[in-house]
Amino acid sequence: MNEFDSERIEFLLEEMDYRKEDDVSKADLIIINTCAVREKAKNKLYGHLGRYKGYKEKNPDLLICVGGCTAQNLKEKIIKDFPFVDIVFGTHNISSIPSMIQKRLNDNKSICSILDEGFDYDLKKFKKNYSFKSYIPISIGCNNFCSYCIVPFVRGKEISIRPEVILENIERLVETGILEITLVGQNVNSYGKDLDKPITFSEILERVSEISGLKRIRFMTSHPKDLSKELINVISQKENIMPHIHLPLQSGSNKILKLMNRHYTREAFLLLTEEIRKKIKKCSITTDIIVGFPGEEEKDFYDTLDMIEKIRFDRAFTFIYSKREGTKSADFKDNMPLSVKKALFTELVNVQNKISMEKNQSKIGCKYKVLLEGNGPRCELEGRLEDNTLVNLKYDDDELIGKLIDVEITEAKSFYLIGKKV
Ligand code: 5AD
Ligand code: SF4
Repeated sequence: MNEFDSERIEFLLEEMDYRKEDDVSKADLIIINTCAVREKAKNKLYGHLGRYKGYKEKNPDLLICVGGCTAQNLKEKIIKDFPFVDIVFGTHNISSIPSMIQKRLNDNKSICSILDEGFDYDLKKFKKNYSFKSYIPISIGCNNFCSYCIVPFVRGKEISIRPEVILENIERLVETGILEITLVGQNVNSYGKDLDKPITFSEILERVSEISGLKRIRFMTSHPKDLSKELINVISQKENIMPHIHLPLQSGSNKILKLMNRHYTREAFLLLTEEIRKKIKKCSITTDIIVGFPGEEEKDFYDTLDMIEKIRFDRAFTFIYSKREGTKSADFKDNMPLSVKKALFTELVNVQNKISMEKNQSKIGCKYKVLLEGNGPRCELEGRLEDNTLVNLKYDDDELIGKLIDVEITEAKSFYLIGKKV
């Protein structure tokens, strides 16, 4: 969602005749679009601001803006602590960026605009970072209030975008050559409940899959408590809906799941993954795990590890619990020392890496359709399998970027595959 917001900001700036400058030290305008999910984002922001202060001393006309969830969370404090910051804006004020910049250029006062200006998503106004794939938000905000999570406080309550608007925009994007769409929402599975004419996520997904020319559809994130049988059926029946479900487990301990306010048990989660694997051919399941939640004891951690070993996720994103002021769990007693959390975290990462490696090794010698996305960090072409596994190609024909090609897997690493074009 944050990436999509950046694409919206870029669009609005281009309309104002700003052009992207890759060397940040040469920019006339710097916008930092922040995340707030973990505390680390705040420290990162402060680090960036410290550096940009020096740029402003050299170029007094430079405008420095801070937006997004951390900006919204810290509000005026940013301008108070960093008076050289020109504009602070929240996730609900993106469409006002041009007028804020204009105002800041006209009078010499910093602006803090974090009020909820209402629902202002215009799906036509964003700068596509790729010519062949795009995100499309389908809902904004979240009603779940998982006890550790800051998102409902900064993004607000869940609002679904009307199906006609979603479909019309995807059709338009497909006409421009977009092959892959990722539908995004904090919890896509609860999409549509708030609409005048309610519709389910599986219904909108099915309608998106009927758009001709759209080759690949992805979506994230699915809350396990809301993932329906109908959704599994739709994914299993439609060829252009990719067989990948990101299904955050968060913890494998029923005690911790309850404290997290997740509304499912480990047993229900296990059944759900079995159902997915039974019905959807070659479906990958990835997850998010939090280690060291307040109240977690070693036996709870080993329940999580047990789930990791039972379910054998294709990949897992693992986090050490980060206390977010204002959330319910910020008041919970947290007895586990950070050093223990770090050791358990490493143990979990090692187990998961071994599983991911084994899963990747099982793909060696097989052929897959790959959408080539661009040059990867290893100077090779990077693409994704249908199940979202990353693959690197020892092949340097840039013409292939944005194309669907056949690839044979020749080698496996924990985090990616290596393959050759066939
Ligand atoms: N601490 C650690 N991880 C968190 N996440 C969300 N809030 C926190 C927090 N306070 C993780 C969850 C979520 C992912 C996007 O970030 O695992 O699924
Ligand atoms: Fe946060 Fe839970 Fe909503 Fe996800 S579902 S955004 S973890 S409150």
